[in-house]
Amino acid sequence: MEDNGPLKEALAATSGAIERVLDPIIALTGGPEDRVVEAMRYSVFSGGKRLRPFLVLASAELFDVDRTQALRVAAAVECVHCYSLIHDDLPAMDDDDLRRGQPTVHMAFDEATAILAGDALMSVAFEILAKEETHPDPNVRLELIRELARASGHHGMVGGQMIDLTANEHDMDEMFVHRLQQMKTGALISFSAEAGAVMGHAGKQARSSLHGYARDLGLAFQIADDLLDVEGCENELGKAVGKDADAGKATLVSLMGVDRARQQAQILSDQAIEHLAGFDDKASLLRAVAHFAINRRT
Ligand code: IPE
Ligand code: IPE
Ligand code: MG
Ligand code: MG
Ligand code: MG
Repeated sequence: MEDNGPLKEALAATSGAIERVLDPIIALTGGPEDRVVEAMRYSVFSGGKRLRPFLVLASAELFDVDRTQALRVAAAVECVHCYSLIHDDLPAMDDDDLRRGQPTVHMAFDEATAILAGDALMSVAFEILAKEETHPDPNVRLELIRELARASGHHGMVGGQMIDLTANEHDMDEMFVHRLQQMKTGALISFSAEAGAVMGHAGKQARSSLHGYARDLGLAFQIADDLLDVEGCENELGKAVGKDADAGKATLVSLMGVDRARQQAQILSDQAIEHLAGFDDKASLLRAVAHFAINRRT
């Protein structure tokens, strides 16, 4: 197992750096619409692991992409992620009161504001990607926009959330749950890990290695999330536990039990690392993320 110290430092640095990017972008206007901006800021500046932004930066480093540009893409992904969390917590969805150790957006504000804050964060993400400062090559910007749109929408996160909410109406097996998780969580993680390759005009082989890495990492990450829902501690996680079983959610833990789910997560994490064989030491933080994804307590 690799030492997690450098990864922790890199995650903390990522967090500070994307907050500096987003602070002026999600700025109060002084107008009567500021309530929604306050809710957006409440969500975005509430901590979180910043795993997706980190993946963008780490993949960008593999291809010597300009860090300022990569940070903008990282910030855009975090906006989509925060939007997904705000909506995921709504009473109509998972109905959660606690997120990142503080009241969820609809509890701190109200449901309508939470819906709007999520909507606006999604818009901000695409606005960031469309700007020339994000990448000088318009084809790259277009590809980032197209890929993030696909990862967020009904082929990706939103589609996965839909299946997640209706899962107990379907015949579920492991394939079904894998597909659900690949969509709801994996798609955004895949976008993040491949964004550096897009920005750096990487070749097909490097891109496909990162694709394989991200696919296995995304699944491992969601299995770990489901395990933490069973075995984790609310104080450490900053969100309620035991919710999936209460809601009858279909997860690999509900299908195969804690021990087999943990084994599956380990296999996926190992596989993710194998996909990075073609990269040298530059990929060591990406390897460390694959360990962290399944050994984390938060
Ligand atoms: C939680 O994501 C939602 C899932 C897709 C599992 P994270 O565990 O990355 O949440 P934060 O950003 O660290 O709060
Ligand atoms: C959420 O999955 C995935 C998203 C797209 C937000 P969960 O519902 O399991 O995430 P948590 O446990 O509330 O963070
Ligand atoms: Mg959910
Ligand atoms: Mg939830
Ligand atoms: Mg969960």
